[in-house]
Amino acid sequence: MTERVNLDYNNMIRSASQARGIAAQQLDDVARRFAGVHAQVEAGRAAQRFGFFDLPNQQELLDRIRSFAHGVGQAFDCVIVLGIGGSALGAFALQQALLAPHWNELSDEGREYYPRLYILDNIDPTTIAPFLDRLDLRRTLVNVISKSGATAETMAQYLIVRERLVASLDEAWRRHVLFTTDPEKGVLRRLATEEAIPVLPVPPNVGGRFSVLSAVGLLPAALVGIDVDALLAGAAQMDARCRTPDFHANPAAIFAALQHLAHTTEAAPIHVMMPYSDRLYGVADWFRQLWAESLGKQRDRQGRDVFRGPTPVKAVGATDQHSQVQLYMEGPFDKTITFLSVRSLARDLAIPPAYPQIDELGYLGRHSLGELLDAERRATRAALTRAGRMNMTIELPALDANRVGQLLMMLQVATVYAGELYDVDPLDQPGVELGKQLTYGLMGRAGFAAPQDPPGDPRFVCA
Ligand code: PA5
Repeated sequence: MTERVNLDYNNMIRSASQARGIAAQQLDDVARRFAGVHAQVEAGRAAQRFGFFDLPNQQELLDRIRSFAHGVGQAFDCVIVLGIGGSALGAFALQQALLAPHWNELSDEGREYYPRLYILDNIDPTTIAPFLDRLDLRRTLVNVISKSGATAETMAQYLIVRERLVASLDEAWRRHVLFTTDPEKGVLRRLATEEAIPVLPVPPNVGGRFSVLSAVGLLPAALVGIDVDALLAGAAQMDARCRTPDFHANPAAIFAALQHLAHTTEAAPIHVMMPYSDRLYGVADWFRQLWAESLGKQRDRQGRDVFRGPTPVKAVGATDQHSQVQLYMEGPFDKTITFLSVRSLARDLAIPPAYPQIDELGYLGRHSLGELLDAERRATRAALTRAGRMNMTIELPALDANRVGQLLMMLQVATVYAGELYDVDPLDQPGVELGKQLTYGLMGRAGFAAPQDPPGDPRFVCA
């Protein structure tokens, strides 16, 4: 079995010399109560509520993805993903973590003849227009991803790209498009049938932010040669590890419980994820959505107003030592910091030993950039701990598909445990509905009203 992702949470626990942190006693109490949380999640799993648990074992779907990717992947120079939120962030996290950096700038040979991968995500025309203007659509595959098949941003992207595809390819445009959507419902599913466009399913019980290990994340990953088997094997390995009701052996349980305790007993609702790895920044971004949209809720599961939820923040080391760490060290005690670290780097770079006689430069020359990055992480961790700032470290033995699969699964399982602890439904997102409906109204969609806000008071506008 591949070496496991591990979680070191020493620095979350209050020590004899520390006035702050989670008391070991509090953690023991949660550990005793964890069997109930675990049983609830297992019951939800058995009732098929949490479809993401099953994704590592969808052999038939995986075969379809693989055969599609092998059939077409290298026939295109470029893959573009049209999607937003949970339909984009997972693929982006995989791209950043598991492809060579600056993938899209590499030569065909450097990419081993796999395509470039662009994930549009947003709808800013000043980004999209120039991007599309320089794209050769005759060499491009467009993967439109929308579980609902109704998201305005993704549908708008699709309408624009489709028009250009038709203009440059005529009837052949269909061979350049692939939908990933609900197996039965929604406009994309209907269009797939009516316009004979190939389509892959997103299981009905898998919501956007839990869909990275479905076709939503796997197809773009497979198209660019990411080892999706290893990714799923890692996820399955972590799932097996988290099936234990033994709290102390279950990293997802410990992560969720510590964050929840930090919020509810130590007044620390801000949860920073700070990889010391550029390549894991996308994972921190993906986690930010997962944690926020799953746990930030007006109502608890009994329907009472509770206005609950942690605030996830992403940062990256060492860069944000020069931006955020001053606040984390000396600002309010309202945060936890979760470092992500990679023990063994795929590449390192020696720092040349020039200027040995100059103190400020000479010491660097005995080391590598990897050593410097790791020293900065350890130093920041030690400094935060000395300042009484709760922090923990998730360590990946190496940055590869298996370990990323482990990490993604751990964070998803932690999210449903946290849903139990916060007593909110981690699977819905009623809070984004009103904004969507008002957008429809403003855009003139039949049956939806535009906001009728009173005109603002000009005294409160600084023009
Ligand atoms: O997690 C979620 O459910 C959301 O972030 C969705 O992924 C996002 O709104 C996009 O939805 P859809 O895939 O239906 O286009």
